[in-house]
Amino acid sequence: MVKGKFITIEGSEGAGKSTNLLFVQAYLTAKNIEFISTREPGGTPIAEKMRDLLLDKDNTALCDDAELLLMFAARAQHLNELIIPALEAGKWVISDRFTDASYAYQGGGRGLSWEKIAQLEQWVQGDLRPDATILLDIPVDLGMERVRARGETDRFEQEQLSFFNRIRDAYLKLAKENPERFHIIDTRHSITEVQEQLTLVMNNLTTQ
Ligand code: TMP
Repeated sequence: MVKGKFITIEGSEGAGKSTNLLFVQAYLTAKNIEFISTREPGGTPIAEKMRDLLLDKDNTALCDDAELLLMFAARAQHLNELIIPALEAGKWVISDRFTDASYAYQGGGRGLSWEKIAQLEQWVQGDLRPDATILLDIPVDLGMERVRARGETDRFEQEQLSFFNRIRDAYLKLAKENPERFHIIDTRHSITEVQEQLTLVMNNLTTQ
């Protein structure tokens, strides 16, 4: 049985995930590749309830360990209910964020140990890892300008600049450690240039 490909899209706040996700979806549709598009935390009704808890800015008392565990509880549900069945049915899965976000936000941002995260990753995912990860990268000050321009912020977006700098550094470190999986795209470039780069990445994945 041919399994679908599992592609994740990551980036710090304001890196342009929404626009570029639409582009990836349009690319796959044009190529007649069957896919589902989903997001983390969330992606299924139960996991979306956990997302609400995680993003609710009234939950100021949520401790870092509970935040990490909730991310992985949502991920376990998401994998079992949606991602794994779709891949097994031969569909591609495009996920707006996945476990690299836990390393970047809970590891880099909150300062939790990477070892703890790696243990949860192994527990919840076994050997399953994304086939490719597109990292949309932007300097933190520019990204935050975009977030502020959007208006309403969630529990994470209310953090200080230093938190987002640690997240960006962690993403870049993950990319450096996993060069075969990661594709970094600098979203300071024009939309046309970013989409040209995305097309190259997608062409590569569809011909593999
Ligand atoms: P979004 O803004 O991209 O929809 O993602 C929701 C927030 O959740 C975003 O601020 C990143 C954060 N997040 C984590 O902190 N850890 C994770 O594992 C995931 C998937 C997301």
